[in-house]
Amino acid sequence: MTVVSRATAIAHPNIALAKYWGKRADGHNLPAVPSLSVTLAGMATTTEVAFDASLDRDELHLGGAALPPDAEATRRVAGLLDRVRAASGRRERARVVSRNDFPTAAGLASSASAFAALALAASAAAGLPTAPALVSDLARKTSVSAARSAFGGFVELRAGRPGDEALAATPLAPEDHWPLAVVIAVTREGPKDVGSSDGMRHTAMTSPYFPAWVDAAPSLFDAVRAAVLARDLAALGAAAEASALCMHASSIAASPGLLYWTGATVEVIAAVRRLRAQGTPAFFTIDAGPHVKVFTTPEAQAAVGAALLAVPGVLRTITAVPGGGARLAPSSGGA
Ligand code: DP6
Repeated sequence: MTVVSRATAIAHPNIALAKYWGKRADGHNLPAVPSLSVTLAGMATTTEVAFDASLDRDELHLGGAALPPDAEATRRVAGLLDRVRAASGRRERARVVSRNDFPTAAGLASSASAFAALALAASAAAGLPTAPALVSDLARKTSVSAARSAFGGFVELRAGRPGDEALAATPLAPEDHWPLAVVIAVTREGPKDVGSSDGMRHTAMTSPYFPAWVDAAPSLFDAVRAAVLARDLAALGAAAEASALCMHASSIAASPGLLYWTGATVEVIAAVRRLRAQGTPAFFTIDAGPHVKVFTTPEAQAAVGAALLAVPGVLRTITAVPGGGARLAPSSGGA
């Protein structure tokens, strides 16, 4: 009989208020800038990892479909599993079965929740310790933003330093620290954008504004951090919008320019500014795609949602609130 060691983990996406964009040049997948995010409740990735001696290669099944061995996602998953095998002494290949309960076709970020869930499930299945800092570091080595989804609430990740090998995110404040609401304006269902890893590499290599972004990011991070601790929505909005706009400016100035926005993205920015001018608390942030994530208060969430839905080009909205970190599924004790 083949012995199978399995575990299942659940993790949530996060949205960066102070953006990570760009890696240190010295390897180890270290971020060039500090970042700060909020982990979301209500959207989840559930991933089962089963180490199985009868397998001759790692398998990835996403949303019910088996991915080819040479797919980018399969290779990244195998890379994380290689690290788990090296740390645990296990040699078996693994079957990874993962599903999201939120739509991924729209190009909404799913790699953070995916690699946080994978890091936790793979560590547990291999019998490795599953302390969140260890899971965060393991996830970060594959995808930097995934390091932050190991924790719930408001989470920070410092920039890498020369010589760093381990680097984990740290929790800044729990999910109930500040009851913010997020309304995601989905502006396109269509084809995938240039992925984050490729987009930031292209920006770092060709944009004359990339060094300016790396210079500006730490003080924007400090302002975001102080505003989160003070629960100051106006200050947070100013700093978070500046972080997103500086990040995008660096990419727009790349050669050729990398523009993640569509007309609808700009229309949503204008609508958020109109809401604010009318006294409704709201600010936006944008990741490597055309969708706009709008933060507001729970009281104003319905009005913000209605205003965004009225913007031409907004297809639908998704709402979320701060949530918890990655966790093992109740039935999953690991090995
Ligand atoms: C725009 O973490 O997806 O969402 O480390 O190469 O996997 P890799 O990149 P990834 O980049 C996320 C970029 C961002 C901003 C952020 O989440 O901080």
